[in-house]
Amino acid sequence: MENFINNLPKAELHLHIEGTFEPELMFEIAKRNKVDIPYDSVEKLKKAYAFSCLQDFLDIYYQGAQVLLYEQDFYDLTFAYLEKCAEQNVRHAEIMFDPQTHTERGVSFETVITGIHKACVEAREKFGISTLLIMSYLRHLSEEAAFKTLEESLPFKAWITAVGLDSSEKGNPPSKFKRVFEASVAEGYVPLAHAGEEGSADYVWEALDLLKIKRIDHGNNSLQDASLVREIVKRDMALTVCPLSNLSLKVVENLSEHPLKKMMDLGLKVTVNSDDPAYFGGQVNQNFISIQKALDLSKEDLCELARNSFRYSLLDQNMKDMYLREVEAYCAA
Ligand code: HPA
Ligand code: ZN
Repeated sequence: MENFINNLPKAELHLHIEGTFEPELMFEIAKRNKVDIPYDSVEKLKKAYAFSCLQDFLDIYYQGAQVLLYEQDFYDLTFAYLEKCAEQNVRHAEIMFDPQTHTERGVSFETVITGIHKACVEAREKFGISTLLIMSYLRHLSEEAAFKTLEESLPFKAWITAVGLDSSEKGNPPSKFKRVFEASVAEGYVPLAHAGEEGSADYVWEALDLLKIKRIDHGNNSLQDASLVREIVKRDMALTVCPLSNLSLKVVENLSEHPLKKMMDLGLKVTVNSDDPAYFGGQVNQNFISIQKALDLSKEDLCELARNSFRYSLLDQNMKDMYLREVEAYCAA
């Protein structure tokens, strides 16, 4: 099964580039930038990766990102992730980045996106991996701050496909960002959002009805509301599920209780993703392997998850068809 998963062609649709920051690279960049990390070794830093909820994680995640200062740092971070994609037969990645985590510290939008974009171009040439970028608004910050970020993004519009919504969910409902999502869509960005990770099913309804999102990041708590599940099925929207993230942040107590299979049985379109692999103990293939074991998924289930990852990507139909043919050839053999 592990071998089958490793070679299965797949796309990753829920991935925060700041969440791919491995401690070794963090220490290396901190050293060259002469920035202090409040841990004196990789081992001690890793010990801090024991979370009891989303906010515990976010506090450490934002702290880690503070060593990123220059274009080269964003390039190195992104290229390291894309090298891992190549090793895992991830053929396509839709990468979220949090501009405000950096612009709030005085790093320019241009610095962030130029480094990320250059790594994506390089990975396309070197590994044949396609990528696209999702600019995520931090929901614990104000609507005004999100509008400012939208404005800053406009010179780089050609490099950005979608907008997302992440960070502390509870107390920051989608309704807070209705207007900035409308403005983002008017600029040509596809609307996406985290919803129902820690927030209730009502937050998922708001993300659907007010933000008009095309895909749901996480979406676990949708299962609390049968009419919502029917609506998501009817609208043919996918959930980007992140099993090891859900385990690390105590969204589920253990993986055998994870609702992924139940979601599939209800007719929901599910994909498997790593979210923040440096913090949650596994890249996308490890997420597949762990959830396959925990829920005894069949090869056909795995093929369906891989198909969904391309079908519900933001690629054009020609690219989707090309990748889907790769999945079909693999799964038939
Ligand atoms: N949820 C919300 N915000 C995030 C996450 C997440 O899982 N990862 C990075 N930012
Ligand atoms: Zn996420």
